[in-house]
Amino acid sequence: MCGIIGYVGEKNCTPILLNGLKNLEYRGYDSAGIAVLEGNSINIKKSKGRVKNLEDLIEKDLCGGNIGIAHTRWATHGKPSKENAHPHEDNSHTFALVHNGIIENYKELRHFLCEQGYSFFSETDTEVIPNLIHYYYEKQEKTKDGFLQAVALACKKLEGSFAILVLCKYFPQTIILARRNSPLVVGKGKNEYYIASDIPAILEYTRDFYFLDDNEISFLESDIIHFFDFDLLEHEKELIHSSLSRNSSNKNGYEDFMLKEIEEQPQAIFDTLNQDIDLHLSSSFSQIYIVACGTAMHAGLVGKTCIETLCKIPTFVEVASEFRYRNPIIDSHTLCIFISQSGETADTIAALKLAKQKKAKTIAISNVMGSSISREADVCFYTYAGPEIAVASTKAYTSQVCLLCMLAILFAKQLKTASDKDLEVLKEDLLQLPKQIENILEHKDKIQILAKQLAFERDMFFLGRGIDYTTCLEASLKLKEISYIHSEAYPAGELKHGPIALIEQNTPVVGILTEEALLEKTISNLQEVIARGAKTFIVTNQELPKNIFDFVFTIPKTSRFTSPALSIVPLQLFSYYIAKQKNLDVDKPRNLAKSVTVE
Ligand code: G6P
Repeated sequence: MCGIIGYVGEKNCTPILLNGLKNLEYRGYDSAGIAVLEGNSINIKKSKGRVKNLEDLIEKDLCGGNIGIAHTRWATHGKPSKENAHPHEDNSHTFALVHNGIIENYKELRHFLCEQGYSFFSETDTEVIPNLIHYYYEKQEKTKDGFLQAVALACKKLEGSFAILVLCKYFPQTIILARRNSPLVVGKGKNEYYIASDIPAILEYTRDFYFLDDNEISFLESDIIHFFDFDLLEHEKELIHSSLSRNSSNKNGYEDFMLKEIEEQPQAIFDTLNQDIDLHLSSSFSQIYIVACGTAMHAGLVGKTCIETLCKIPTFVEVASEFRYRNPIIDSHTLCIFISQSGETADTIAALKLAKQKKAKTIAISNVMGSSISREADVCFYTYAGPEIAVASTKAYTSQVCLLCMLAILFAKQLKTASDKDLEVLKEDLLQLPKQIENILEHKDKIQILAKQLAFERDMFFLGRGIDYTTCLEASLKLKEISYIHSEAYPAGELKHGPIALIEQNTPVVGILTEEALLEKTISNLQEVIARGAKTFIVTNQELPKNIFDFVFTIPKTSRFTSPALSIVPLQLFSYYIAKQKNLDVDKPRNLAKSVTVE
C-alpha cells in the first residue's frame, strides 16, 4: 500500500527519495510523486505507474535541494492518476504533503473548506489536509511555531488514519510529521534525518530509529528533532538501534526477494527459536482467540491445533475483518493472540483494539519491532525473520508457526497439561527444522521441473486432513497470489460434498500427507479423484503405496505440529517456479499489497 519517504540534511535529497521509493515498491502502488523544497519554492513531480516513470520525468528536469518528501500511492479515494498522486498542495501552493491512511471525515472537511473558498483538484481524501493546514496557518503568526500549530490543529480535526509529512515553502529547513494509526519512523544520520513509513526503505542509511506514536507530531530540521502530542506538549523519545542488517532489505544476488526469503527460512526459524520467552499464563483463561489476516491467519490455524492439543484450552481462529465487526463473546477470561508480519494491518489492529475494550488479555506476534500491534498489545513476541519484502509471505509464515509452537509449549508447561517428555520431543523437533528445510531446499530442482509441467493449468486443488488441511490453505493462497492460477484448498473428506464435481481428466490435485493417523483416509480420498481422471502430486513424510500417484516429494519426518513448517516449503517453491515460468512479477503480484493499512 502507500509508502512514505522523506529527507532533511546536507545531501541532495532527490536520489535518496527516489531510492527510498524503489525500496518501498514492494508494498504495492499505482502512482508516485516527489516534492523538493529549494529556496522558497516547492518543486513537485508526479506520475502514474512505476517509480521509473517518475525518475524519467526528474531526469528531464532535475530537482536539487536538501529537503524533500515522496510517496507511492495505492489508490483508495479516486483512480490511479497523476492528479490523485501525492504530494498534494493547498490552493496557495504554500504547503506540500504526503499522506498514508484514510481520512474518514474528508467529505465534511471538504464541505467546510469549500465554504471558506477553497477549491479541490483531485478526487482524494488527502487534499483536504494541506488546505486545512493553510486555513489554520492563516490564523497564526507566520513563524515555524505557527506552522507547527497549524499542523497540530489540522491533525486534531482529522478522523481516520494518517501518517503525514508536511513542507512549507517559507521554512526551507523544516519538515513536520504526524501520525495516527499509520506507521512512521525517523532514522537518524549525521546532521540528517530520514523518514519512512517502514524501516526497509531507509535501512541502508541508518539503523537508529525513532518510532512515532499515535497522536504524535514531530518537528524536524537537519540537526533538530522535537516530539509533541497534538496539544503541543513536548516530550522526550528513545532512539532505538535496530539489529537488522543492511543486506536484509536487498536481493543480495537473488533474482527475486521471494526466492531469497524462501531460502532464508532456516535462518529465520533459527533466530525466532533462539529467544527467551518470558510469560506467565494464568490458568483462568477459558478460551483463546487467534486473529489475523491472510498468511498470518493460516499460521494461526496451526497454532490452534498445537495449543488445543497441548494446553486443552478451546482455541478459535478468525480473520480480523470478520472478528472486528461481529461483537465476539470475549471477556477478561479470554486470551486473544494477534498475528501480523507487518504489525500494521488495519483490520488486525482494529480487532486488537476491540479485544482490549472487552478486557481480554492480548498478545501480539509481529515481525516488525515497534510496529503498531506490537505497541498496542499487552505483550508482544517477535518473529526474527528479518524484513520480508516479497508480497507473498514465506519466511514470516514458517517463523510464526514456530513461535506459536514455542508459546504452546510454554503455556502447556505452566498449565501442566502435557507431559514434560512430549514437550521436550516437540522442542527438539522445532530445533531440527532449520536443517530439515535446508535439506528440502537442496532438492528444489525437482519442484522446478514439476512447476514447468503445470505452469499453464487453469485450476488446481489442494487436499489434506487435519493439520495438512491448514497447509493446503496456505499453499493454495501462495499459488493464487503469484501465479494467478485458480485454486481451492479442501479438507480431503469434504471433497465429495460438492467440489469433486469439478474434477476432470488431468485436473491437477496436490495432496499433503503428513497426518499419520489420517493417512489411509486421505489416500482413499485421493483415490476418489484419481478415479475421476485427476493427476496427483503429493508432499509427504509417510511411507506411501507405490505407483498410485503421479509425483511424490518426500520431506523429513517431524511432529504433527512442526510438519506445516516443512510441507509448505516445496509448495512455496512450486508457486514461485510456476510464476517464473509464466514470466510474472513474483515479488509484486497484481492488485496485491504487502501491508494492508486500509480496511
Ligand atoms: C497482505 C499480504 C499477505 C499477508 C496479509 C497479512 O494481504 O499480501 O501476504 O499475509 O496481508 O499481513 P500481516 O502483515 O498482517 O501479516
